[in-house]
Amino acid sequence: MPTFKLDGKTIPFEPGDSIIKAAERQGIEIPHYCWHPGLSSPANCRMCLVEILPKPGQRPMMLDILELDAKTGEYKPVQKPKLQPACYNPASEGLEVLSDTSPHVQKARHDVQERLLLNHPVDCPICDQAGECTLQDYWLAYQKTAKRMNDEPVHKSKGVEFGPTIVYDGERCVMCTRCIRFMDEVAKDPVLDMRERGNLNEITVAPGRQLEGHYTFMTEHVCPVGALTTKDFRFKARVWFLRTAESVCQGCATGCNGHLDYDPRNNTAYRYRPRDNEKVNKYWMCDEGMLSYREAHHGRVTSASIAGKAVSLGAALDEVKSLFVSMPKESVAIVFGAQHSLEDNWALRELGLVLLGSKHAYWSGRADGYKDKILIHADKNSNARGVQALVPGAKPLTALVDDVNAGRVTHIIALGGAASVDAAVLSRAKLVTIAAHDGPLTDSASVVLPATSWAEHTGTYVNAQGLHQVSEKGLEPLGDSKPAWKVLADLAGALGYEASWSKLKQIRAQLAGGSTTDASAAAAPAE
Ligand code: SF4
Ligand code: SF4
Ligand code: FES
Repeated sequence: MPTFKLDGKTIPFEPGDSIIKAAERQGIEIPHYCWHPGLSSPANCRMCLVEILPKPGQRPMMLDILELDAKTGEYKPVQKPKLQPACYNPASEGLEVLSDTSPHVQKARHDVQERLLLNHPVDCPICDQAGECTLQDYWLAYQKTAKRMNDEPVHKSKGVEFGPTIVYDGERCVMCTRCIRFMDEVAKDPVLDMRERGNLNEITVAPGRQLEGHYTFMTEHVCPVGALTTKDFRFKARVWFLRTAESVCQGCATGCNGHLDYDPRNNTAYRYRPRDNEKVNKYWMCDEGMLSYREAHHGRVTSASIAGKAVSLGAALDEVKSLFVSMPKESVAIVFGAQHSLEDNWALRELGLVLLGSKHAYWSGRADGYKDKILIHADKNSNARGVQALVPGAKPLTALVDDVNAGRVTHIIALGGAASVDAAVLSRAKLVTIAAHDGPLTDSASVVLPATSWAEHTGTYVNAQGLHQVSEKGLEPLGDSKPAWKVLADLAGALGYEASWSKLKQIRAQLAGGSTTDASAAAAPAE
């Protein structure tokens, strides 16, 4: 691999890398506002300026400048190296670059910062970006001087609604144009642009349009300062109180990687932010996905119920025991959940197909929906592929409706409340649903057992590409809920069986063994 030198360190690079990109791969940050690894480089903020040393025999690029002589108080003509943007200049073999070690670079960073803050409002105490703002971080790292301008700063529009989701503050904007480029290059909807010049610059929405669509939240995420805020998160939390879990979005089969930010003091999730993963979502998430953090709290099943009435977990298990005590084994159906983790589905497979010996396997999940060519998948389930691999031959829920109608199935154990068909007919059978969220399968259930959502346990989900991705626990379990694999162990006990699993690692070890149960042979209706 070719290399260049940065502050004396050898940096490998891939052809086409800019200096800043190659440095970032090695974990070295060159400060920047306008550069973003997923967008083009306009090189307009000048924060990433570095000193590129001339190669032997090359004439150095110098600038004639005036420098204040502190002793005489006079300006004197001097020369300094012409600095160049690291975000725009390609890395090349043998290049020697000075960044942190160049006094000229240090001075440039200080001066860019000072200029950016000249007209910047002192909004930090009420700004949602405070605590994760690049202006704050770079002030501390590269400036550390008080403002020297005594004039009234330039005032611009504040609190401008760009659309249904995003609010713009012109005074906080550093004109990096990331939001413009994101909408143009990634969302393919060039609805944002810049107007005016110099310190009157502002970001504006195309006449007759508003900032809308499936990727508006990303403009806020790429904004390095607090100029763009989402109506959803605005003024809701201070980021230094939040903790984060490395999560996987449950909104569709793409399985975008996200940071689930939550406040441990009130066990509440506040937002999703994209987690970079070149193979899955690169740097992005869609609006629906970023808002799906709400499902950690909304529509949740947090207590057990019998015929819709809340009961204790023990009473619900007793009810299941009495409902299933004299069931004919050949008429028990098992419904796997495409919204639940591999571990949960594995435990259901053990209980349903191994211990109970059921011959009827089905799967359920949300109905297909909108898709695009950017991220959004038509399959709105996070683990449909995982379920298919775990229980090949599991039939869709429409087949279960037919089997219940025909009397071939009389007892059902289902994982997850979601269903893409009218599940009312299932209430003719004895239906036990273990679910984190309400849905047709909890509405029709005789007994509902509460399971934790993806936000409250660690679980593995297989996305549409077949990638196994682990989503980490953030919140503590809500109400009486437990991970579904634990509920299934309790259920096995209530039905008179001893579960072979009591820890997540045991299930993981079994899954690593790669065992599958082919339901295609078993799924033939019992004669
Ligand atoms: S609103 Fe944010 S992302 Fe857009 S130009 Fe201003 S600072 Fe950059
Ligand atoms: S594309 Fe799918 S997985 Fe990605 S953020 Fe959107 S809903 Fe979530
Ligand atoms: S990051 Fe803005 S000029 Fe390079």
